[in-house]
Amino acid sequence: MYSDRIRHPALTGKIMQAEEAVTLFRNGMVVGMSGFTRAGDAKAIPVALVERARREPLSLTLMTGASLGNGSDGLMAEAGLLARRLPFQSDATLRRKINAGEVMFIDQHLSETAEQLQSGSLGPVDIAVIEAAAITEDGGIVPTMSVGNSASFVQQARQIIIELNLGAPLTLEGLHDIYIPGPRPGRAPIPLVSPEQRIGSTSIKVDPARITAIVITDSADSPSTILPPDAETAAIASHVIKFFESEVAAGRMGPELAPLQAGIGTIANAVLHGLIDSPFRDLTMFSEVLQDSAIELLDSGQLTFASASSITLSSAMYDRFIKDFDRYRSRILLRPQEISNHPEVVRRLGILALNTALEFDIYGNVNSTHVGGTHMMNGIGGSGDFARNGQLSIFVSKSVAKDGAISSVVPMVTHVDHTEHDVDVLVTEWGLADLRGLTPRERAPMIIEHCAHPDYRPQLRAYVEEACRRGGHTPHVLGEALSWHERYQSSQTMLMR
Ligand code: COA
Repeated sequence: MYSDRIRHPALTGKIMQAEEAVTLFRNGMVVGMSGFTRAGDAKAIPVALVERARREPLSLTLMTGASLGNGSDGLMAEAGLLARRLPFQSDATLRRKINAGEVMFIDQHLSETAEQLQSGSLGPVDIAVIEAAAITEDGGIVPTMSVGNSASFVQQARQIIIELNLGAPLTLEGLHDIYIPGPRPGRAPIPLVSPEQRIGSTSIKVDPARITAIVITDSADSPSTILPPDAETAAIASHVIKFFESEVAAGRMGPELAPLQAGIGTIANAVLHGLIDSPFRDLTMFSEVLQDSAIELLDSGQLTFASASSITLSSAMYDRFIKDFDRYRSRILLRPQEISNHPEVVRRLGILALNTALEFDIYGNVNSTHVGGTHMMNGIGGSGDFARNGQLSIFVSKSVAKDGAISSVVPMVTHVDHTEHDVDVLVTEWGLADLRGLTPRERAPMIIEHCAHPDYRPQLRAYVEEACRRGGHTPHVLGEALSWHERYQSSQTMLMR
C-alpha cells in the first residue's frame, strides 16, 4: 500500500487514523508542527486534537514554522488547545485569544526558533507532526510546499507523526535542500554563497524507528489571501523600482540588483509584481515565502532563481505551478527557515530586504506587529532577520489606514520591531525617503515630506519644530510623542481638529 510514497518497508505497519494517532498526545506536551504561511501544514492531526480537546482537558505548547492554514490555528485556539504558541500566526481567532491574554504567544524572529531548540532553551519537543509527500527508502522525509522548522522538529522530537499527503505531487521530491547548522561552539560557516546553491539533502534524514505513526491525508494547502495590487500599492512599487534604477545608475548595483527578499502580505506582493514592468533582468530571490508575484516573475523570465522556505499561492496560481512544475523545478529551492533567514547568509549575500510596516516614525523606527502599541497583529516573522542584516532594508506601508483616520507616519511608534539603526529606506504611495547617511534631525523632514499623507504633514512639521526647539540628538516632545495614538483611541482619528 502506498509503496510509491512509503518506500521504507518497515513503515507501512505504522499507518493509522488521525483519531488513533492523537492518543499519543498528553496534556502539557510541547509539539512541533510543519507549516509555514499556510503551506505544508499538518492538516488531520489538528482537527483530531480539537475533537479530543472537546472531550477531555488537553492543552499544548505549539511551535510551527509560521502561520497555519485550514483555519487550524483558530480551531485549536477556540478549543482551548493552545496554552502557548510560537513563533508566528495570522489567524483572527487566535489573534483575539492572544490579545485577551488567553494564549501565551512568543513573537520570535523566524530564524531563532531552531537555534533555541538546538541550544535547549526551548523544548524539548515531545511530538513532531510533519506533512510529507513521501518517505524514502532510507527513511528520509520529503516535505511538501514548505520546510519551515520541520527538520529541526524531527531532529529534536521524541516521537514523530507523519501526515502523508496523497494530494501533494510526488514530483515535489528534489525541491528541498535540508541543511542544519552544527552545534555551538565550534560551528562551521554555512557554506552558502549564492541563492541557487545546494548544501544539504533533498529529504529530512530520520531513523525510521522514531516515526511512531503515519496518517494518510489528501487535503490541499489553504490558498493565499492576498489582495491584487491597487493604485496605492502600484505607486509604492513604482517608487521602489525608480529607487533601484537610481542605485544601478549610481553604480552601486548591477542590473541584476542583489538577491531580493519580499515580506508577506498584499503590499510586498504588489511591489514584487511591479518588477514585471521594470527593466531589471537576471534577478534572484533569497526570501522566506514565495507568493504569486515570484511565480509571475519566473514566468516573465526576469527572475532566474528563487530560494525560500515556503510557497504560498492563490488557487489559480497553485494549479498552474503544479501543472507546469517541470518548468519551475530547476529554478526553485526550499530550505529550512533557519537557513532561508540566517543572519550570516543574509549579510553574506547582500540581500535587498523589502518588508511591510504598520507604522513608522519620523526618525525611522518601524512597528510591524502591534496595533496601537498593545494588540498583536501577526508577529515579526522574518522581517527582522532580513532587515537588520540585509544590504538594504526597505519598509513599505500605505500612508494612512482606516480611511485616513490613522497616519502610518507618526511622531513616535507605539512598539519598535525595527530600530532606526536597521532601516535604510521608507516608502508610501506618496514617495520614498532614503535615510542612508542622514542623522535623526535630517531624517524627520525627509520622511514627512516624502512619505506622510499631505493631511498629516502640517501636524508632523509642527511636532518636529517644537521638538527641535527643545533640543537633543533625536528631538522629541515626550509628553506629546504618543498623543496621536491616544487621540485615535478617544476620537477615532489622529487628525487634529
Ligand atoms: N494601525 C492600525 N491598523 C493598521 C495600521 C496602523 N498603523 N496599518 C495597517 N493597518 C491595518 C490595515 O487597515 C489592515 O486592516 P484590515 O485587515 O482590517 O483591512 C491590516 O492592518 C493589514 O494592512 P495592509 O495595509 O493590508 O497590509 P498587509 O496585508 O501588507 O500586512 C502587515 C501588513 C504589517 C500586517 C504584515 O506585512 C505583517 O504581518 N508583517 C509582519 C511580518 C513580516 O513582515 N514578515 C515578513 C517576513 S516574510
